[in-house]
Amino acid sequence: MADYWMEWASLLLRWLHVITAIAWIGSSFYFVWLDLSLRKAERSPKSVYGESWSVHGGGFYHVQKYLVAPDTMPKELHWFKYESYFTWVSGFSLLAVTYYWGAQVFLIDPSVADLSVTQAVGLSLGSLALGWFIYDGLCKTPIGKDLRVLGILVYAVVVASAYAYSEIFSSRAALLHVGALVATWMTGNVFFIIIPNQKKVVASLQRGEAPDPTLGQQAKQRSTHNNYLTLPVLFMMLSNHYPMTFAGEDLWILVALVVLIGAIIRDYFNAGHAGADGFRVKWQWPVASALIVTLAVWARPTAISLDSHQIIENKDVEIIVSTHCTGCHAAQPTMSGFSAPPKGVVLETLADVQRYKQQVYAQSVASEAMPPGNLTQMTAGERAILGRWLETH
Ligand code: HEC
Repeated sequence: MADYWMEWASLLLRWLHVITAIAWIGSSFYFVWLDLSLRKAERSPKSVYGESWSVHGGGFYHVQKYLVAPDTMPKELHWFKYESYFTWVSGFSLLAVTYYWGAQVFLIDPSVADLSVTQAVGLSLGSLALGWFIYDGLCKTPIGKDLRVLGILVYAVVVASAYAYSEIFSSRAALLHVGALVATWMTGNVFFIIIPNQKKVVASLQRGEAPDPTLGQQAKQRSTHNNYLTLPVLFMMLSNHYPMTFAGEDLWILVALVVLIGAIIRDYFNAGHAGADGFRVKWQWPVASALIVTLAVWARPTAISLDSHQIIENKDVEIIVSTHCTGCHAAQPTMSGFSAPPKGVVLETLADVQRYKQQVYAQSVASEAMPPGNLTQMTAGERAILGRWLETH
């Protein structure tokens, strides 16, 4: 029964997480667009840096940006921060429910590292904290002044984290952890840098003093990172539903490509919003498309070799499925921790296997996503037999 309630916890947290992430990303895309669409106003006060007009929901909106501050502080000032905080809190809770509660199934893969649940959860928590200190430290060193050099170093840290995670966790958990690590930086940027700096700026303005310009520079550095990291993080969050993304060896190559692709696509929108034209907005889609094709070709599964004369009996496949799948994928699972067949996928007979042919192939032949963490130690030979049977039935 406990598993039943965990399923509900998981569903509700996922629901919340998607909603808050939409709100956060939506508002941050909106502000990036707003910032870049500002144009010099002709008849506005001197302190107005630029303005933007838009139409939405039956009315016209006229936004003006004050770089320093308006002459008098408005009574009501809207802040945008809870979208980010709740995205992190709900995401972290979902990570705990899925990967900590279900550590044996999803987090640990004994063929990668034979960890206890405590060790695995400790490594997950410790790495998220350590990752923040490395990233934040890097941003605060003198190197941080040069956004390009810093960008390259941050990129290297993300790719290195993919390598490190794939040495300790199941590949599915490894890829998700890269996403969680980067998402933690993004919320950390809002919580520890952007919002506190804005508060300091507002406070000094209220005292009638000129704000420290480095506060704005720091915030700009972090929000630039958040902007470019959004699309790659979303890819990594979705990846755990698609075994082909984490099935291969060298996960860090996939991460290196995904971060590059996401950032390039984001750059197209940034440049376009700012009114750029010509080559400045023409190179991104061809390059990103070429990289996506490269990624898909690189990630495709390698065929498992089988002696072409080997005859595959239905009985062999029945044994493989009942040994490695039915414990969980049954109307009444016998595996502890499962009260219902996961995702409703029942694999009790060969007819069942045929019914879920494509998914079974994707999960257990083209990748080693199932059984999770290779809990039942399914061999490459057994996967090849299952694959051949699926191809011929
Ligand atoms: C330890 C329990 C366990 C075993 C053993 C197991 N699975 Fe699964 N299976 C799961 C869980 C949990 C999920 C849901 C995964 C998720 O939430 O993404 C799942 C999901 C699936 C899905 C649906 C994937 C999707 O998202 O569409 C398929 C297909 C599948 N398993 C096939 C298999 C096959 C084939 C085997 C045997 C080779 C197998 N499973 C063995 C636990 C198991």
